[in-house]
Amino acid sequence: MSETDQIRHGAPNARDAVRALRPSQIREVANAGFGVADVLPFWFGESDRVTPKFIRDAASEALAAGATFYTHNLGIAPLREALAGYVSALHGQTSPEQVAVTSAGVNALMLAAQLVVGAGDRVVAVTPLWPNLVEIPKILGAGVQTVSLEYGRQGWTLDVERLLAALTPDTRLLMLNSPNNPTGWVMTRDEQRAVLEHCRRHGIWIVADEVYERLYYGGTHTDGGGTPRSAPSFLDLGGRDERVICVNSFSKTWLMTGWRLGWIVAPSVLMDDLSKLVEYNTSCAPAFVQQAGVVAVKEGERFAAELAASLRASRDHLVSALAQIPGIDVKAPPGAMYLFFSLPGAEHSLDLCKALVREVGLGLAPGSAFGSEGEGFVRWCYACDPARLDQGVERLRRFLARR
Ligand SMILES: Cc1ncc(COP(=O)(O)O)c(C=O)c1O
Repeated sequence: MSETDQIRHGAPNARDAVRALRPSQIREVANAGFGVADVLPFWFGESDRVTPKFIRDAASEALAAGATFYTHNLGIAPLREALAGYVSALHGQTSPEQVAVTSAGVNALMLAAQLVVGAGDRVVAVTPLWPNLVEIPKILGAGVQTVSLEYGRQGWTLDVERLLAALTPDTRLLMLNSPNNPTGWVMTRDEQRAVLEHCRRHGIWIVADEVYERLYYGGTHTDGGGTPRSAPSFLDLGGRDERVICVNSFSKTWLMTGWRLGWIVAPSVLMDDLSKLVEYNTSCAPAFVQQAGVVAVKEGERFAAELAASLRASRDHLVSALAQIPGIDVKAPPGAMYLFFSLPGAEHSLDLCKALVREVGLGLAPGSAFGSEGEGFVRWCYACDPARLDQGVERLRRFLARR
């Protein structure tokens, strides 16, 4: 059979770029736990708490009032306006024309990549990293080079010079996620400035995934009473008319993972093209979800602050409990909702996590799920009741004692 015949008449396979995508190793671990009666699932990036009632009520009311129709591709005007106000308060003047509503952060990342990346383009990503940022450009036929954070006494840090060296003039896009999933690393203002200046010089696009910006526990970016409201953002630095696309989500700040609502802040000149991409991807986010989003943004400030405070307490609680176990090297990172730490056996983190779930019902994510740079570590999402964290620590202790 000729090659053409093979393609036409062989197995009905997906495109090579799709077949080459990495399957989720977190799913692999979860599958290993099927049949285990009592699993404590700390493996997904999700709180165990339901979305706040005032937001759920807003969605119910919108549904009851008949908000069941298509909306504008870029979102309903009240939500774009509310988001522009929210972003302006956090990061400086932003107009509704620079905001687009998306079907959550994942869709925002895909749209941002579709806007600027094509087949054969060179993309750089800082790792360890939640896999979507690395895999999405590959779906579009781009090649992705990774630059690894480094782990040392200060926890995870970035060697900016090494990143700048990788950002060659033929690079199309830099994919960045800060606060970072899985490490909790947060890019400093100075690092952002250096990267932005370099990218400006070479015309390189930046897609900044800032979905964890409100889950920030340190630094000097303060509001009034000294409580940081947000991690440093690229939106604090530049105008809104350059090659920077910021991706955000309702999932983490207001515990709305299942709602699938997010947004993009980008130059207004991109919006007509972005609108076409939304049309051909999802057409719009659901109308009643968008209406609830308006309430989350306008009335959810106290909730967001309380959530960050409680996550910070959970982080500290888990760090002190884990630090007492011999062989565990754990540090409190400045952002997000994960601990990414090393422990005996983690040099084969996938096998270790499968054994943990099978033998003691402890569900952690293997570091290798976040790129080869993550091998040697495991990720623990601490967005849950401290009593469950204690139960998890006890299981880990039991597991390690047996080995
Ligand atoms: C770094 C990062 N970006 C984006 C997302 C997307 O979240 P969502 O699609 O729920 O908005 C996640 C979810 O875990 C994430 O960890």
